[in-house]
Amino acid sequence: MGFYDKYLLPKLLNLAMKAPEMTRLRRQLVPLATGRVLEIGVGSGLNLPFYDPSVQVTGVDPSLELQAYAREIARDEKLDVEFLAVGAEAIPLEDKTFDTAVITWTLCTIPDPDAALREVRRLLKPGGKLIFIEHGESPEANIATWQRRINPTWNKLAGGCHLNRRPDTMILANAFQLGDMTEGYIPGPKIATYSYRGIATIA
Ligand SMILES: C[S@@+](CC[C@H](N)C(=O)[O-])C[C@H]1O[C@@H](n2cnc3c(N)ncnc32)[C@H](O)[C@@H]1O
Repeated sequence: MGFYDKYLLPKLLNLAMKAPEMTRLRRQLVPLATGRVLEIGVGSGLNLPFYDPSVQVTGVDPSLELQAYAREIARDEKLDVEFLAVGAEAIPLEDKTFDTAVITWTLCTIPDPDAALREVRRLLKPGGKLIFIEHGESPEANIATWQRRINPTWNKLAGGCHLNRRPDTMILANAFQLGDMTEGYIPGPKIATYSYRGIATIA
């Protein structure tokens, strides 16, 4: 891993992910998590302050650099979080362990998002739910064209993030059903802000 990815990118990501609208959406959706919670791509821990104190969180993310920020937040918030520094495509835990999975702005980055969603499906208990806030392909043809053009460069600069994935399609394709989903731009450049958010349940 080069200097940019190891030292600069974690700082940049931690800052970028604190945008006010992102924080507002975290505050709206994260408290809906209940019971044992699996957070996929816990990153720098920006969702942690919004969990109900009754939940028990396991945070999966291969980045030890981001995990250092998340551990600090967990300490400050006096939360007992279990961190697993692994990719979400293969999580070394028992089937049907969790009541809720949470994934925010991460399906864009995971190298094999379908494998990660299969893991989430496997690890959720019957009746479990997946809370998601993601960004992806814009429905506007000209923006989607720009997303495709810029994607290769963006991918290198933004730690593997893809601008044009379809989180809703991926979630449906991996044996979830979508309840209420809201989509639309949040403030910021249109190529990176078309947002898909809501709650999916096991189909
Ligand atoms: C844009 S950041 C979002 C972080 C956090 N979810 C948030 O809302 O602030 C994308 C995250 O995906 C993580 N990631 C990359 N590859 C992953 C993988 N294979 N499994 C799980 N997380 C991964 C990165 O380390 C990073 O923390």
